[in-house]
Amino acid sequence: MHLLTIAELTKQEVDRLLVMAATGKARHKMGIPHNPLRGKTLGLIFEKSSTRTRVSFETAMYQLGGDVIFISQRDSQIGRGEPIKDTSRVMSRYVDGIIIRTFGHEIIEEYAKYSTVPVINGLTDLHHPCQVLADVLTIIEKKGGYEGMKVCWIGDGNNMANSWIEAAGVLGFELVLACPKGYFPHEGILKKAASANPKIRVTESVEEAATGADVLNTDVWASMGQEEEAEARKKAFDGFQINSRLLGLAKKDAIVLHCLPAHRGEEITDEVMEGPQSAIWDEAENRLHIQKAILERLLVTA
Ligand code: CP
Ligand code: NVA
Repeated sequence: MHLLTIAELTKQEVDRLLVMAATGKARHKMGIPHNPLRGKTLGLIFEKSSTRTRVSFETAMYQLGGDVIFISQRDSQIGRGEPIKDTSRVMSRYVDGIIIRTFGHEIIEEYAKYSTVPVINGLTDLHHPCQVLADVLTIIEKKGGYEGMKVCWIGDGNNMANSWIEAAGVLGFELVLACPKGYFPHEGILKKAASANPKIRVTESVEEAATGADVLNTDVWASMGQEEEAEARKKAFDGFQINSRLLGLAKKDAIVLHCLPAHRGEEITDEVMEGPQSAIWDEAENRLHIQKAILERLLVTA
C-alpha cells in the first residue's frame, strides 16, 4: 500500500491513523519506547529542499527503531537521468519504504507503479498529504475533533489546498478557500471532493472565508518551483493575508495554521504567527507523530 494522496484513504483509515498518532504521541511523551520498525530501513528521495519533512521522517524512523538513507537528486544517478522505473525497482530491493519529494505528481505515481515497497508522498506540486494529516491531528488536539469545524484557506490553490480539499472530502468538515482569480485549486480534485461534501467551496473573498471560521490556514504565495513567478504572484495575492483584522472575523477561539516555511508580511503577519491563537509550532511537531503512525501502518501492519 502506498500513500500518495488523502483521497486514497477512507474516513475509517484516516481516523485510525489519527488515533495511532495521538496514542503514539502520548506514549512518546511518557518516555515509553516503541520500536516496531527495528531492522527496517526507510529511503528518502528528495528533489526539492526540506527541513520539516526530512527531519520529521528521519526522526520518526529512528524513534520507531529503524534506520534511514537520504538520497538527493544531486548526488545520486537520479540527477543524471536514470529512469524512475529503474531507480524505483532497485530501491525496492534495498529499503522497506520510500518517501519521495518531487515536482510533478506523475513522477511519484511512476515510482509507486514500479515499487514493491510502500511509497509515501513527502510533497509534490499537486499534493502534500502528510502535512494536512498533521494539521487535522492539530485541530483534533485543539478543538476536540474535526466534526462541525469550519476550516478556511487563504491564498494559493496549491498542493496544500488540494490536500485540504481531499481531507474535507473524506472527513466531511466545512472548508472555504479564498483564492485570487487564476490561482484556484485543481478543478478535478475540487469537483470530486465537493460532490462528496457540498460544504467545500472556493471564493475570491477572504472575509467570506474567514467569517466564523474555527481554523485559519495559509501557505506561501509562491511554492517551490515557482520562484520566477514570485513577483507577479506578490501582486495577485495582495490582501490574501492572515492578519489580526482577518483573525477578528473568525471565532474568538479560532486557531491559525501554517505548514511552514512562512514569509512573514506576505501570507501571514509576524503578529499572528507569534500570537496566542497560533498553533503553528504544535502543527510542525505533529508531522513527527502522524508520520510515525503512517510508517507503522504501512511498513508493519498493512
Ligand atoms: N511543511 C513542510 O513540508 O516543510 P519542509 O519543506 O521544511 O519539509
Ligand atoms: N506549497 C509549499 C509547501 C511547502 C511545504 C511548496 O510546495 O513549496
